[in-house]
Amino acid sequence: MEGAPVTHSTHLEALFPDQESIPELIRLPGFIKQTEFLADGHLREWDGPFQNVESPLLVRTATGLARTVIGQAPRMTAEASLTVLEAAVRAYGSGRGAWPTMSVSERIGCVGRFAGMMRDRKRDIVRLLVWEIAKTVPDAEKELDRTLQYIDDTIDALKDLDRAGSRFTITDGIIAQIRRAPLGVALCLGPYNYPLNETFTILIPALIMGNTIVCKPAKLGVLLHRPLLEAYRDAFPPGVVNTVYGDGETIIGPLMDSGKIDVLGFIGSTKVADTLKDRHPQPHRLRSILGLGAKNPAILLPDADVELAVRECVQGSLSYNGQRCTGLKILFVHRAVIDQFLSRFATAVEQLRLGMPWEDRVTITPLPVPGKPGYLTELVDDAVRHGARVVNDRGGTSCETMFTPAILSPVTPEMRLYHEEQFGPVVPVVPFDDLRVPIEWVEKSRYGQQVSIFGTDPAHLAELIDPLVNQVCRVNINSQCQRGPDAFPFTGRKDSAEGTLSVSDALRAFSIRTLVATKECDANRSILSAIVRERRSNFLSTDFIF
Ligand code: G3H
Repeated sequence: MEGAPVTHSTHLEALFPDQESIPELIRLPGFIKQTEFLADGHLREWDGPFQNVESPLLVRTATGLARTVIGQAPRMTAEASLTVLEAAVRAYGSGRGAWPTMSVSERIGCVGRFAGMMRDRKRDIVRLLVWEIAKTVPDAEKELDRTLQYIDDTIDALKDLDRAGSRFTITDGIIAQIRRAPLGVALCLGPYNYPLNETFTILIPALIMGNTIVCKPAKLGVLLHRPLLEAYRDAFPPGVVNTVYGDGETIIGPLMDSGKIDVLGFIGSTKVADTLKDRHPQPHRLRSILGLGAKNPAILLPDADVELAVRECVQGSLSYNGQRCTGLKILFVHRAVIDQFLSRFATAVEQLRLGMPWEDRVTITPLPVPGKPGYLTELVDDAVRHGARVVNDRGGTSCETMFTPAILSPVTPEMRLYHEEQFGPVVPVVPFDDLRVPIEWVEKSRYGQQVSIFGTDPAHLAELIDPLVNQVCRVNINSQCQRGPDAFPFTGRKDSAEGTLSVSDALRAFSIRTLVATKECDANRSILSAIVRERRSNFLSTDFIF
């Protein structure tokens, strides 16, 4: 990512640690060279080129700040990744493989065992989340715990789904059993901001429904998946979970070209999703479940409780440095409360603690995407050039990967910040007199994920709710935008998503309804009875999972 030259602040430079001040518990045991990838149930040694894994956490040395390369991972070739794909294709076996034909309760057993092994590796994974993407320790722990909870909830939801399917139905003289079946080989690609949780919100439902998997960890957040390779190998039959590493364009494009991917589970940019889908030679064979870009707005009405709105907007726009797809990325504030809002918001943002992810009460940490501070500086400069000012004193200064959150106001349609998804700690504020301004912005936006509205008058809020629910997929009242709880549907309109994720929706998204049916007569009745009684089929079965 290119960008404007960034200012260098000595105050920010001092936030980076020297080697000695890194707490023992957070220190990595040494350089991590991942030489393995998982294919066909084996950890295979990669003997080709490697990619460096650089941490956004620089270290102060006698000669200045030093970048730390914490490890390496394979940089696979197209050929190698196609070989891995073949392992997943074989394990699926056109639906005849051990995994897609296994009983639901056995599959649940495998996933449960995997979750247990993942729990045992918590410390290693959390430490790598900290080093690879600079997530604070409490947030990294939350990400892992939330993922384990997601797995438990998915198991419960699948039990419910299976119970509903464990009976025959008779309609118009036809006896049938209707269940959900897998789709085939699923390619799972997660994002860097939730490299564990969001990868698993697609991988786990795809897996437990009987699909076989090729997973490529996010570009940033690769090594943190390493501690799970043995767990995949030991918990699942060979070829059910396989991993690839390297440059997306080099290895993922050819996987799509092969036409052997049946499901694309992807969370990332709209542009990459479009490119990948376009490359599949049989578009109707491919099912896509996508979580994409978003620029969720907050709208503050004249009667908003400003103190509450400030609290929610700070969280909404700046938690994990604004790097959340659900983040509030533009704030529309009615002119009746703009001065009060800006002054309180700036004070609250100035109080946010910048520092290293392991430090107490730190919320703003270094940015992992190379070139991001330059890009954000460019957005700030563009807004200032077109008449906005940086409202908070320290806003917009940077040093290497550290960038001080900047509030920009008044932001207008001429500015890039009015339109672009900044995905970082820059908060554009648009004062308005007429509600048509935010409404038209929502209507014209290429995205349609969520919105937050702040107000106290039920009548005014209701007037906004009805038009907005038809533009986005979640309207939050007096609360920031967010994905959770994971039982709620998470999706978006326009360029923001395809398909719906939630614990139960995801099971449906990664499977298809299929049925076995026969005309009702004595001969057919006795055939069905024999199959069920003698337990000859996992599909045609009335077994009930308790
Ligand atoms: O990056 C997008 C995530 O799904 C956001 O999840 O709202 O729980 O932070 P969250």
